[in-house]
Amino acid sequence: MAVSTSFADIGASGKETLQTLFITGVKNAHALEKEARQILSRQIERVTNYPEVEQKLRMHLAETNAQEERIDEILHALGEDRSLLKDWATQIMGNMAAVAHVPMADEILKNTFANHAFEAFEIAAYKSLITMAEATGNTQFLAALRQTLQEEERMRQWIEDNVEKVTRMYMEREARGEKADR
Ligand SMILES: [Fe+2]
Repeated sequence: MAVSTSFADIGASGKETLQTLFITGVKNAHALEKEARQILSRQIERVTNYPEVEQKLRMHLAETNAQEERIDEILHALGEDRSLLKDWATQIMGNMAAVAHVPMADEILKNTFANHAFEAFEIAAYKSLITMAEATGNTQFLAALRQTLQEEERMRQWIEDNVEKVTRMYMEREARGEKADR
């Protein structure tokens, strides 16, 4: 594959640099999953009138916990101590998380948009990480990373497929004078 051949002429210190990039990518993924877990848990706590959304959030929270475990195992295999992680990606995603945390009249919609963006961010992050794993010969982690990528893609697709339905439910509840925000 083009990706691996273009790294063929890199020397030992260059390879060490690339391995460091991969490890940093894994640490970032850890922070991202931690952030995902917090956002999903918070939304599950609050959502009351959108049972299908709630069910999907619960399903993806379970997936997210497993994803975090997969990342933990990779870090362990790489000899990294996960208790020393700073998880600064929380700051990268700060704005999105803020949207997901502030109560609003159309909270269910804002959360839907933010969740779609978050899944898209995760998809790009895992595609990047998989590319790094391939280029650095860390092929033993590819199956786990690809499984996570698939789960993020399915979640993002579900949100895209259901944004209109959720919007109509929200509008109908508002029109009937029912509690619609979440
Ligand atoms: Fe995730």
